[in-house]
Amino acid sequence: MKKIIITTLICSGLLVAADRFSDMKNMEDALVEIQKGFLYTNKDMVKSGVKTLKENNKMDAHIDAVKSYLPKEKQNLFKNAIKEAKSINTNADVIMKSIEAKEYSKAHDSYAKILNSCTHCHLVVRNWK
Ligand code: HEC
Repeated sequence: MKKIIITTLICSGLLVAADRFSDMKNMEDALVEIQKGFLYTNKDMVKSGVKTLKENNKMDAHIDAVKSYLPKEKQNLFKNAIKEAKSINTNADVIMKSIEAKEYSKAHDSYAKILNSCTHCHLVVRNWK
């Protein structure tokens, strides 16, 4: 009985980790699509990438992931990491609006800010390990 419970726990843990990983992978693919959209000046491609990005930028998953890496003495960094995750959505909205308004360089600036948010959270998280 114990074995079954433990196995179930391990499996569900792995499933959650795999899920989170695929969200991250989907966000990576979304960024590639957005960048391609800019390079080819293809609005629809940018918009489709932004949509995928927002769908996969799940706040609950981020909170769980960040918590699981967080040692007690670094609690203060939790807020920073989550702030980066939130600002991804804010900047994604700016891209959508700017693209519609044909403000391409503003849109591209927001893309760069999103990339900064990704790497910033990763740096913070890696430092905790
Ligand atoms: C709130 C923090 C946070 C933000 C913001 C974030 N990530 Fe992650 N990311 C993680 C964590 C934590 C992992 C480690 C995998 C896990 O345990 O789920 C990870 C892993 C990854 C991986 C797998 C490769 C690796 O290094 O392990 C990719 C790819 C990735 N993220 C892409 C992105 C992209 C693209 C963005 C921005 C659009 C982003 N992430 C934003 C926390 C974050």
